[in-house]
Amino acid sequence: MSAIGLVQAREKMRGAGVAPAAVETFTRFYRLLESGVSGLIREEDVEPLPQLARADELEPSDGEAAALDRTAIIKLNGGLGTSMGMDKAKSLLPVRRTAEGEDLTFLDIIVGQVRAARAATGARLPLVFMNSFRTQADTLALLGRYDDVAMDGLPLDFLQNREPKLRADDLTPVEWPSDPDLEWCPPGHGDLYPALHAAGVVRALLDAGFRYASVSNSDNLGAAPEARIAGWFAASGAPYAAEMCLKTPADVKGGQLVVRKADGRIVQRETAQTHPDDLTVGLDPTRHRYFHTNNLWFDLEVLAAELDRTGGVLELPLIRNDKTVDPADPASTKVVQIESAMGAAVAVFEGATAIEVGRDRFLPVKTTNDLLVLRSDVYELTDDYRVVAQVPAPLVSLSAPYKTISGFDSRFPAEPPSLRGATSLTVQGDWNFGARVRVLGDARLPDPDEALVSLDIAPTDATG
Ligand code: UTP
Repeated sequence: MSAIGLVQAREKMRGAGVAPAAVETFTRFYRLLESGVSGLIREEDVEPLPQLARADELEPSDGEAAALDRTAIIKLNGGLGTSMGMDKAKSLLPVRRTAEGEDLTFLDIIVGQVRAARAATGARLPLVFMNSFRTQADTLALLGRYDDVAMDGLPLDFLQNREPKLRADDLTPVEWPSDPDLEWCPPGHGDLYPALHAAGVVRALLDAGFRYASVSNSDNLGAAPEARIAGWFAASGAPYAAEMCLKTPADVKGGQLVVRKADGRIVQRETAQTHPDDLTVGLDPTRHRYFHTNNLWFDLEVLAAELDRTGGVLELPLIRNDKTVDPADPASTKVVQIESAMGAAVAVFEGATAIEVGRDRFLPVKTTNDLLVLRSDVYELTDDYRVVAQVPAPLVSLSAPYKTISGFDSRFPAEPPSLRGATSLTVQGDWNFGARVRVLGDARLPDPDEALVSLDIAPTDATG
């Protein structure tokens, strides 16, 4: 471990023109990393979240139109989709094909949702993307097709910071001369706060008369602008609110909120922050009933005051992310990426709260399994660009060759299979899917290399 590593990393960041607040944020995290701080939150020190208000039971209120009109929509778009073998924004991927045969990406649908909400409610609804150095150019190029989406005087995006990837063996900045871009990474979505501050976006929104921000992942098409929740948030007077979903038995998701006994504050606990002895009870859906959607609301005035007070540095817990320098090459040098999570800021705001939302507000695409379902006829795109499930989504599990987006696309060269009649689809081994495939019931394609089986799949028909 090395003080040298930190000195080198700071020099590298300064040399690349990284903002001073971002260098200081990195330095704090580096020291935490070096000291081996685990950030564990023990079960005996917390209570589960109490029963939450439910968004779908909120009464319409007179204030909701005004609240929505004072809300800005912020989309997190700086991640690189490395779990799907990507090195650019996931939001550039096509997700739905229109009846006219036009492919719509996540970005097109997000823009469609915002425009539809503006037209339906009269709310101004500025749309602002947080990009990283790897996602900005592509994203702005695609958004260039919409000349009505940016709002006068407000940026359509701002750039998050970047930091050196660290060699796992000695925590010095990694060198990768064959592609020096790979020496850098975005520091996770917890970077939202220093990045917003450095770009002056909070101030610009406040000056333009906005008071609230509704933030969500650009890969979650469920998080469309929502007047009812805006009205609830404004009336609550809370500085910050998280949207939570009730867990089903299939959800063994990490990110949860718990109430710290010592001071009654809500804090976020990731699986990595759960002590091994607490894992069973920590992940028990009858005790901790909700998971975090990563949809959040802030009061911009409170956030501005907090960021001004701290110089843009919120003291969030460290997330250590172990990767390889070239995400596409598992044999390349092992690195550590220092990250933080946006939702961890819940602990910073006294009076932070949470609300239960329906599954329709949580449609993330983390894997190609999710992408297959989203592209399929399980969902329909409405006129106001909402992506609505027509039947319960089947459980899809694709084998390793489909894991990266290139492997996936080459094996589904035609339209996605029909999944409306499926309860599950498990693909083992390596299969190419032709056109007009329908999947029914619980379908499994066994590994053709392991078992020679006769399958009842006609070229134009179904498995099941
Ligand atoms: P994820 O944590 O799912 O990461 O991001 P990802 O980058 O999309 O995918 P993997 O983990 O590399 O496969 C959740 C949301 O946060 C954004 C992403 O763009 C996504 O919308 N994000 C993530 C940022 O804006 N910046 C970051 O540094 C990381």
